[in-house]
Amino acid sequence: MKKIALLGSSGSIGRNCLKVIDNFPGEFQITCLAVHRSLQTVYQQAVRYMPQAVVITGTPTDKSLLTDLKNRGIRVYQGQQALTEFFAEDDSDLVINALVGAVGLFPTLEAIRRGKTVALANKETLVMAGEIITQRAQTAGVTIIPIDSEHSAIFQCLVGENPENIRRIILTASGGPFLERDVSSFNHITIDEALAHPRWDMGDKVSIDSATLMNKGLEIIEAHWLFHLPLEKIEVVIHPQSIIHSMVEFIDGSIKAQLSLPDMKIPIQYALTYPKRKTSSSQYLKIEDVQSLTFFEPDFEKFPNLRLAIESLKLGGTAPTVLNAANEVSVELFLNGKISFTDIPRLVEKALQQHEVVPHPDINQILTADRWSRNFVLHLQGG
Ligand SMILES: NC(=O)c1ccc[n+]([C@@H]2O[C@H](COP(=O)([O-])OP(=O)(O)OC[C@H]3O[C@@H](n4cnc5c(N)ncnc54)[C@H](OP(=O)(O)O)[C@@H]3O)[C@@H](O)[C@H]2O)c1
Repeated sequence: MKKIALLGSSGSIGRNCLKVIDNFPGEFQITCLAVHRSLQTVYQQAVRYMPQAVVITGTPTDKSLLTDLKNRGIRVYQGQQALTEFFAEDDSDLVINALVGAVGLFPTLEAIRRGKTVALANKETLVMAGEIITQRAQTAGVTIIPIDSEHSAIFQCLVGENPENIRRIILTASGGPFLERDVSSFNHITIDEALAHPRWDMGDKVSIDSATLMNKGLEIIEAHWLFHLPLEKIEVVIHPQSIIHSMVEFIDGSIKAQLSLPDMKIPIQYALTYPKRKTSSSQYLKIEDVQSLTFFEPDFEKFPNLRLAIESLKLGGTAPTVLNAANEVSVELFLNGKISFTDIPRLVEKALQQHEVVPHPDINQILTADRWSRNFVLHLQGG
């Protein structure tokens, strides 16, 4: 039985993970469920899956549910540091990091330090500290299995291949809800419009990132670190049908692609059962019904976040950390109705322009850059 610690169990990825696990009775055991504020959700999940531990990083108002969990023999950890503390008594084989944002960094590092396989949905940690994470994983002999559908697609296309034979990888992007919208009206985009993704049902932050195409920018950085590829070998194409999840072109001119209906349960299941494949309960793609697959280049003028992410990767060092932090704060401000949609790239660009890049940063320098960027955006916005 594979033992699994699921961080971010109340989120879109976390809930899909549990749906996949439900399809394989007796094959997986949950050791830990972690959430921020969703106490009711994690309580119900804990009663159902009986993990050894529950982590709640926020401050719960109703302590009685926590007492009830303790009475059932479940250890309860509280506070932000609990995301790493629980590892001391955790015997999972696989850690699924489905947290959103920079909070995912330390649990990823801790999982690697303890030699656990990591199934990574939390792309932000690779964006902010990709060099350190991949180096430590390599030294510890830890496999990082991507959950992001694009990176899962590439990971699958590379099975049995020599990475030296990669000519380029092609990340596909649906283009988000504003692919066809005139850029002159971007300033009037509402929160609801930005959250309404045409193909995927996701958490709020990643939905906004998909609407600004920052998500694809973060994925370029994620791919750079996961697959050890230079920027020149990573390309993005808009593919509105979201059937091809990404492709790898090899030096002999062959292109391998991974196709399926857009359903996160498919890459999640691959990460859970890797290197095996198992029968899926998701809907299968009926290829005869696919009438057209179209591809075109992204518009960097219309979606400046994509350009900014690429620039940050070129700058290297702490620049992607600053990009990520500025984006997280800006998205939060947008979701709280404090700034407009077009302010998001404007604030990210300002932060990148003002930041003095530290090359090959250590963790402290990454945290300093992350803090600086958050304060910079908040200050700029308040001023
Ligand atoms: N959703 C997708 O289809 C998809 C696809 C590819 C990649 N991803 C990536 O997967 C990650 C998760 O995305 P999601 O859509 O599942 O996000 P989500 O629905 O917003 O869920 C986020 C999870 O993280 C927890 N969390 C938030 N802030 C936290 C904090 N400060 N401390 C501890 N836990 C915290 C939330 O707990 P509460 O519920 O208590 O707030 C929730 O369990 C992101 O990095 C995203 O880019 C998502």
